[in-house]
Amino acid sequence: MKTTSPPRILLTGATGFIGKRLLYKLDAMGYSVRCMVRHPEKLKLPFPLENEPEVFAGDLLDPASLAQALQGMDSAYYLVHSMGGRNFREMEAFEARDRTAAQNFINAADQSGLSRLIYLGGLGEAADNMSRHLSSRQEVGRILDSGKADATILRAAVIIGAGGAGFEIIRYLVERLPVMLCPKWIYTKSQPIAVENVLDYLAGCLEAPETAGATFDIGGPEVLNYADLMRKYARVRGLKRYIAGVPLFQTLLSTYWVALITPVPSGIVFPLAEGLRTPAVCREKRIAGLIPADLIGMEQAICNALAEEQGGPGRLISRQACFLPE
Ligand SMILES: NC(=O)c1ccc[n+]([C@@H]2O[C@H](COP(=O)([O-])OP(=O)(O)OC[C@H]3O[C@@H](n4cnc5c(N)ncnc54)[C@H](OP(=O)(O)O)[C@@H]3O)[C@@H](O)[C@H]2O)c1
Repeated sequence: MKTTSPPRILLTGATGFIGKRLLYKLDAMGYSVRCMVRHPEKLKLPFPLENEPEVFAGDLLDPASLAQALQGMDSAYYLVHSMGGRNFREMEAFEARDRTAAQNFINAADQSGLSRLIYLGGLGEAADNMSRHLSSRQEVGRILDSGKADATILRAAVIIGAGGAGFEIIRYLVERLPVMLCPKWIYTKSQPIAVENVLDYLAGCLEAPETAGATFDIGGPEVLNYADLMRKYARVRGLKRYIAGVPLFQTLLSTYWVALITPVPSGIVFPLAEGLRTPAVCREKRIAGLIPADLIGMEQAICNALAEEQGGPGRLISRQACFLPE
């Protein structure tokens, strides 16, 4: 239940897969939002919002713009990562960029008096030979948690929704390859989650003060491996696919192969594929006791993602957010 003066919310990553959807969700809940975006022209909103968001041009790597973006804000969502780029040097620099962006954010947030911060990071344990991408996501979490604002950190495995990098990789592999011989990462356990449920939790945290200052694992109702997930995608699409693991198939080679088959930029494919060897399963379920969410099964989540793209039941037509050519 909101008070008479609802929190003023800064949304970073509003042009992204999660951020854009969260903007609609917060709007439907009656919040007005300031979106901090690097390129305002990229914030194309396919449906009108109840409250026109304030769009603020800024960059987390530019401390001065951050200080202005945070002015007058009570709460903020941190939905940013720096993976991307198509050449090796750009790709390699993502950890340093993410470290700097998070530190800049906390410096500015401490100055501005921000009281609440919600971050969505990655699921996986340090003991499990964690990839650079996952350790970087966790490092960002630690930096964000070190400030004065009460931080909530949510940790998720692959998120199922149109335009999500992990989902698009799965989709392209299954759509394009009738026979798939993969490295043994296809047998790594994961607990993917529907994007709708991620939004339930992200938005729910804002209205659940008990979540302040805590870290939660969030996941869907099924623990499965990537081969199972790809088979589910094939079943939903009515495609006959043969998927098997080949122990000698090197992960590095498979990463080049995934980058070749999918249109997802290699600067995203490389770090994500490296992380596939790390199990991504929830260690605890405390969030269920704090925020109600009707967990969506993976086949339904895949259906929703495909329907959304056709402009179906999902409100957001995400073609522009996904990696399909326009
Ligand atoms: N997608 C998944 O399956 C998944 C799974 C688990 C966790 N997560 C987490 O969810 C969060 C959001 O991910 P996503 O999938 O929505 O990513 P995304 O679609 O790639 O969006 C990333 C956003 O970050 C913005 N950004 C990057 N660098 C920035 C900077 N220096 N200053 C300001 N904005 C910057 C991008 O803006 P531009 O449009 O300007 O590039 C974009 O809006 C991340 O923390 C990610 O680790 C995602």
